[in-house]
Amino acid sequence: MQSFEYKCPTEIIFGRGAEEKTAQKIKSYGGSRVFVLYGGGSAIKSGLLARIERNLLEAGLQAQKHGGVQPNPRLSFAQRAAKAAKEFNADFILGVGGGSVIDTAKAVAHGVANPDVDIWDFWSGKEVTKSLPVGAVLTIAAAGSESSNSAVLTNEETGKKKGLNTEFNRPVFAIMNPEITFTLSRRQIACGVADIMMHTMERYFTKIEGNKFTDLVAEALLVNVIDNGRIALANRKDYEAMSELMWCGSVSHSNFTELGRTKDFSVHKLGHELSGKYDVAHGESLTTMWGAWARFVYEDDAPRFARFAEKIWGVNSGGTEERARAGIRLTEEFFREMDMPTNFTELGIGHLTDEEIFYLADMCAGNGKVGLFHPIDRETAIKIYNSANK
Ligand code: NZQ
Ligand code: ZN
Repeated sequence: MQSFEYKCPTEIIFGRGAEEKTAQKIKSYGGSRVFVLYGGGSAIKSGLLARIERNLLEAGLQAQKHGGVQPNPRLSFAQRAAKAAKEFNADFILGVGGGSVIDTAKAVAHGVANPDVDIWDFWSGKEVTKSLPVGAVLTIAAAGSESSNSAVLTNEETGKKKGLNTEFNRPVFAIMNPEITFTLSRRQIACGVADIMMHTMERYFTKIEGNKFTDLVAEALLVNVIDNGRIALANRKDYEAMSELMWCGSVSHSNFTELGRTKDFSVHKLGHELSGKYDVAHGESLTTMWGAWARFVYEDDAPRFARFAEKIWGVNSGGTEERARAGIRLTEEFFREMDMPTNFTELGIGHLTDEEIFYLADMCAGNGKVGLFHPIDRETAIKIYNSANK
């Protein structure tokens, strides 16, 4: 087991009606002028935004709403929103939505606290040393941004989609009412299930030995997400299933499934280039790339993949190699069962040319390497992208 430090300070308020505590929580973290970010309209349609607004105003808080965050959130939107939040003199940023809204809220918080710095500088390596508090009202179980230390933005000028990891990205609280997710479409639920699985799988496939408890946590989480994902896809108003997904979504990306090891995240990086270039949904980018990645790397540690097959999919016959391959096949079959893509044609971007593949590989690895399980350089990235190019 590697040495580690673990801190996940986000206060979780979970359950029916949790959003009624939004104002109370903002006040407890010192907020009085609240800049409220939301997405393309689902929170208006469901009535959630109006409920939140009423809750804030009744508590005597000043609020300014700012809608229009897109999936794969854009840098320029965050820059404009930060300007508006600064003009409003915001002292608290509230994201009402999924990963895209919450990540934008984090970027806006950094922008307001550092008005002389271009937000993208933080995504390019500049250290964040101060920010505003961010709260999240979660509307979709997926990205885990509500308690993670990451935020992902797309710089539309360069086409680069990139994450920033800093403890300043941790929201001070996350409101999680599973009933709020009842309005999700089948596709959005499936994207969420895939992303939650992937946050654990990208930490499970590791070369670090030992660490049994973290393995058991990861395996239990994966089995639970698959079981409850199936229930939620059959009935999106199943409160228990949506609760399991929502809580697993947070645990999966709060680093709890990583303790004592180091995450890989190659599949995320390969997938981010697809989203940066073709604006595909994050969950779909992951299911498209995972099988291609897994088939390329599994021989590095076939026993690890065989264990995954046994613990997650119940494969307990055949040799190590055979079980490892069965686990990859069954994972892809589950993605297809959810109507998720497993290659470029299913993703809707068609068969790519060599130049297009080279572009993706350059953006992903450049002259360096990404990932740890099997460090991926440009040449390897080309092979993996080509394997998904069906
Ligand atoms: O914009 P609205 O109208 O709200 O619709 C959204 C959006 O179209 C819709 N939606 C959300 N809640 C809903 C709902 N529709 C109906 N009812 C509801 N209750 O769902 C669509 C997707 O929303 P989005 O916020 O993009 O989803 P998600 O949570 O999957 O976030 C994806 C983004 O997060 C990043 C991804 O790369 C992507 O940009 N990630 C962030 C991470 C982090 N900060 O820790 C880690 C992840 O690995 C991921 O990279
Ligand atoms: Zn993800």
